[in-house]
Amino acid sequence: MMVCEYKPGLDGIPAAQSSISNVDGQKGILEYRGIRIEELAEKSTFLETAYLLIWGELPTSNELAAFEDEVHSHRRIKYHICDMMKCFPESGHPMDALQASAAALGLFYSRRDLNNPAYIRDAVVRLIAKIPTMVAAFQLMRNGNDAIRPHADLDYSGNFLYMLNEKEPDPLAARIFDICLILHAEHTMNASTFSARVTASTLTDPYAVVASAVGTLGGPLHGGANEEVIEMLEEIGSVENVRPYIEDRLERKAKIMGFGHRVYKVKDPRATILQNLAEQLFTKFGHDKYYDIAVEMERVVQEKLSHKGIYPNVDFYSGLVYRKLGIPTDLFTPIFAIARVAGWLAHWKEQLEENRIFRPTQVYDGKHDVSYTPIDQR
Ligand code: SDX
Repeated sequence: MMVCEYKPGLDGIPAAQSSISNVDGQKGILEYRGIRIEELAEKSTFLETAYLLIWGELPTSNELAAFEDEVHSHRRIKYHICDMMKCFPESGHPMDALQASAAALGLFYSRRDLNNPAYIRDAVVRLIAKIPTMVAAFQLMRNGNDAIRPHADLDYSGNFLYMLNEKEPDPLAARIFDICLILHAEHTMNASTFSARVTASTLTDPYAVVASAVGTLGGPLHGGANEEVIEMLEEIGSVENVRPYIEDRLERKAKIMGFGHRVYKVKDPRATILQNLAEQLFTKFGHDKYYDIAVEMERVVQEKLSHKGIYPNVDFYSGLVYRKLGIPTDLFTPIFAIARVAGWLAHWKEQLEENRIFRPTQVYDGKHDVSYTPIDQR
């Protein structure tokens, strides 16, 4: 029998063969289906990028128009889902609300008809269409308001901002938000995508796949870091406090949120684009002092940790963009999920194409042949 070395966190172990995306962590390159992220951020839209990820090719204009129409016509959610969400505690985290509501979609739409391309498309469309509506609905309802209906004349991102703020967004804000979704849509075998693939491999329904991935994304070592970055910037409070804050954390061996990555050993290319988007927003809508703190943090962390390959990751600058768009901090990770659902669904579809259930092994280091001790003798 082959003896395998145990690798904590499966570091460096391939968990799938995939043609969806690729990261070169030494050069700081990210590609979706071979196209560089910088080019997609400049030229594509989130729905076009989602189509590319899920079906493998850029859509023709007819294909894109049909996909956009389908998504737009499925943006509403059933009143049962709204009523269920109204019963969630207002103090609950929106990621937990999203996980529960994504799973609840399965109550209405799951048929587990996994060999039927029409069912696959239907599930893709419903999940991409309804998840933003559920995030916006929870935001309004936890503040005591009714959810509002999607706006027929607004595109995917513009409509999400409209549903959240109850007013039509500035076009630059909507475009920048759409680019954020492109940047977060997919990232090889990250923890939530791995979770999605493991769940998919049991041939359960796509709503359970997405719900399991949402649960995984929420943790502070993964998507939840974007929320913690803003809390950290607020705690630091001024540029002068940056150096002592970082030195103190490093002395206590605590992690600095928004920095470091299993794969990237240089600055995450998405962080570079997000930093640029934040600057565009500041030029139009006014500066944010937390940006100066963030830039100083990047400088000090580079000085102290670049020898370990620790640089800003995707979660470092995204929160500054969302803050300037007026989005509450605890919605940052649900917004990551709105985007990443595209990647999860691409991996769900790919997993089904050549499925084998995930069932890794373990290195057992427990006891053997232990006899049972009766309760009165323990
Ligand atoms: C995302 O995988 C993906 O692709 C994820 C993602 C995606 O798009 O799906 O890119 C999104 O999850 C981004 C990451 C968000 N998380 C954070 O910002 C939390 C802070 N970062 C880390 O905790 C950490 O860097 C991870 C979780 C991102 C990566 O963890 P690893 O690969 O297991 O690395 P490690 O914790 O074992 O650290 C290796 C070394 C250690 O030093 P030594 O013990 O070797 O001396 O690097 C140091 C760590 O102490 N280190 C850090 C650090 N991250 C790593 N030191 C200080 N601050 C940090 N943030």
